[in-house]
Amino acid sequence: MRVLYLNHVSSMGGAEHSLLELLKRVPRDEVEPVVALPEGGPLASHLRSISIEIVTASLVRLKLRLGLLRAFKTGLRILGARRKLSRFVEAREIDLLHANSVSSHFVAGPVGKSQGRPVVWHVRDLRPIPIARGMLGQTATRIIAISQAVRRSLLDQGFPEDKIVVLYNGVDTARFHPGRSGGTERGRLNVPSGSFVFGMIAQMVPWKRHDLFLAAASEIAVRYPHARFWIVGDDVFADHPDYVASLRAQSSSPALSGKVSFLGYREDIEAVIAGLEALVLPSDAEPFGRVLIEAMAMGKPVIATRAGGPPEILEEGHHGYLTNPGDRNELYQAMARMIEEPERSHNMGTAARRHVEDCFSIDRHVAATVSLYRELVEQGR
Ligand code: UDP
Ligand code: GLC
Repeated sequence: MRVLYLNHVSSMGGAEHSLLELLKRVPRDEVEPVVALPEGGPLASHLRSISIEIVTASLVRLKLRLGLLRAFKTGLRILGARRKLSRFVEAREIDLLHANSVSSHFVAGPVGKSQGRPVVWHVRDLRPIPIARGMLGQTATRIIAISQAVRRSLLDQGFPEDKIVVLYNGVDTARFHPGRSGGTERGRLNVPSGSFVFGMIAQMVPWKRHDLFLAAASEIAVRYPHARFWIVGDDVFADHPDYVASLRAQSSSPALSGKVSFLGYREDIEAVIAGLEALVLPSDAEPFGRVLIEAMAMGKPVIATRAGGPPEILEEGHHGYLTNPGDRNELYQAMARMIEEPERSHNMGTAARRHVEDCFSIDRHVAATVSLYRELVEQGR
């Protein structure tokens, strides 16, 4: 079957990493993928390197607050993309469309409807969808929610229950493996031996709460002088320069000075995770949190928040700790406990690896996705 995937950006956030992992492994003798993307960028390069065909379309990232002129231009671009992809679907006899985001479903939904093709809409957000909910729901044949939390949010917004399936993201457990040594990264950053390194891996956007991580870190650093803190990632969509500047200022306080490293965006993220003792993800509400399953797959215990997807991914006290969103003291306590109880932390990492192998393998994710395609394409015939 021929599947047209649509993504609204070509930069690499978690949604794009998830799509790429799926595309690396879809059985090519059964699924012939083509990906519709806006102009070239890192996602396009990754796809080309695995010989996946790309069709350029004027897909756009929809923002909540648009001026009148921007809204008008965005509308025109969406219409242009719909026209182009409708012709493409017809000419290439595409069997199914798979929209990888809310923004791309604005195009995929109407195209699928007009061409009579099934549409899978992948929802990876917890933010309420402000407009066109009726159209988005109606034009989706099936809606994939990346967590029960996302499913609940869709139900609260009135999306049809019988269309929603929950499908967790998957991780490559060979690439993210506990056997990998973290020595190179620690050496590169001159981390003294015997240090305890906490890492936060995330886009540099305010809801991920790097500020809270650094606030807890500044107390940890006073009590445990051998603690170090890595901040990994970038402001991928260049939306929050002030936030990034404020984090740099926060990290130069006397308590943290010399102990925080900003690593920027890294392609070889497994080499970075290998250098950590524990991963921290204090987001206000994470829809899923790929970095959790990546770190857990490498045998690292994690600290995340009791909100959104993380409570579905890790079991509290078994694979790491959960804290309440925004609670700096609870975060501090969890980090302190990681340091104070090394054997327990190590055991949680081992259990985390096993849990990911059982529940979050990429093979399981790919098999479920392809079986959904099969079901929908059969139904349409
Ligand atoms: N990532 C990466 N390099 C970085 C920072 C992040 O490759 O420097 C990857 C990370 O490994 C994960 C994804 O980006 O696969 C982030 O996904 P997640 O679901 O954690 O967060 P999102 O960005 O989707 O909110
Ligand atoms: C979104 C979410 C993140 C999720 C990712 C992949 O970007 O922010 O929590 O893991 O999509 O599905």
